[in-house]
Amino acid sequence: MVAPLITRQPFKTLFILLSSLYTGIRIPFWIVYFIPSFLRQHPQWSYRQALGVRIVSAFLKTLSQAEHGKATPLKGNASKGWVVIQPARAAAYTGVVSKDKQTKPQPLGGTWYPETLKKYTGGDIVLHIHGGAFVVGDGRQGDSGFTAKMILKHTSATHAFFPQYRLSSNGARFPAALQDVISSYCYLTETLEIPADKITISGDSAGANLSMSLLRYIADEPEAKLPGVGCAWLWSPWVDPGKSLITDSPYFSSNRHTDYLNDEFGSWGARTYSPRPETGIALSHPNICFIGTAFATQTPLFFSIGECEALCADMTRVYQEFKAIPGNKVELQVQSKAVHDIVLVGQIVGFENEAAVAAVAANKFLESCK
Ligand SMILES: *[C@@H]1O[C@H](CO)[C@@H](O)[C@H](O)[C@H]1NC(C)=O
Ligand SMILES: *[C@@H]1O[C@H](CO)[C@@H](O)[C@H](O)[C@H]1NC(C)=O
Repeated sequence: MVAPLITRQPFKTLFILLSSLYTGIRIPFWIVYFIPSFLRQHPQWSYRQALGVRIVSAFLKTLSQAEHGKATPLKGNASKGWVVIQPARAAAYTGVVSKDKQTKPQPLGGTWYPETLKKYTGGDIVLHIHGGAFVVGDGRQGDSGFTAKMILKHTSATHAFFPQYRLSSNGARFPAALQDVISSYCYLTETLEIPADKITISGDSAGANLSMSLLRYIADEPEAKLPGVGCAWLWSPWVDPGKSLITDSPYFSSNRHTDYLNDEFGSWGARTYSPRPETGIALSHPNICFIGTAFATQTPLFFSIGECEALCADMTRVYQEFKAIPGNKVELQVQSKAVHDIVLVGQIVGFENEAAVAAVAANKFLESCK
């Protein structure tokens, strides 16, 4: 398949400029249009929420059409919690993450909040995997600062580590990101010797997908010798991105008007994340797709989803499927009026309060698992 012209330079920059200009021209119109609440995407939304969601939706569309990804350099500011970590022992990467001969574990960077944890002395630690359809995001302050703030302010976690995993917008297909999540988990449990039951894996959107992928990997590959994770918080998990490749049934059609996600974003992510054909692994693989593939896990799972999300129905189904497996401890929190992944973009789209409520609920769940 030939890549669309707008995804290649110099057309890409021109397209982004023109498209942003077009959005800029429409903003004054939206500023007036959303004044009466009955014209907003949801009648109970605040003015700021209506405007925020509309603008984010427009920019996300531009970004996705131009397929404008992000580099993942190892450089960062150590006094802002930046660390570079090495791959774990070779045996930690087996089965599904060892089949692609071109994709090997690599050193990666990550950000600690509120500051670098040098030696573990007790308390709850969060390993947070950021979202962004596997194509954008880096876990650094500008990208994930709001998420880190929600976690540190509203939960018992004393420290949170946000790895900057490889992105598929740079050609890093499955299992590159999962390898990086495994490296991060081993960094916590083996290098820093944090007891696994003190670790909560937390992930938003595609990051929640990766978090579930790690749990599945731990359950499926005992010879990797990874201990079970203490708890999991899954924020707006992106459960079946493969679906966004089916162009005649737009994935994000339900709740389309009350969310900022678009099919271009989903399709960009799913297409570039897809494993190489020679690995024999498809997007429907149980390590990637979690619909109809629920598994038994000793890790308690907390799902937080927004009532107005395009992915609401899929996520509810996955929650029910996990709950139906004997022995699993699973809870679902549906945030009323909320859009996709407020724990990541709440500050941008005006859902700070809803994100805080969700974080408090996640903490309550964690306490109930102790
Ligand atoms: C790194 O972060 C510190 C603390 O925020 C800041 O003072 C310093 O200027 C930064 N260094 C660089 C090279 O950006
Ligand atoms: C994770 O992402 C893949 C690839 O886009 C998708 O097929 C799968 O269903 C997702 N799984 C979960 C649990 O979100």
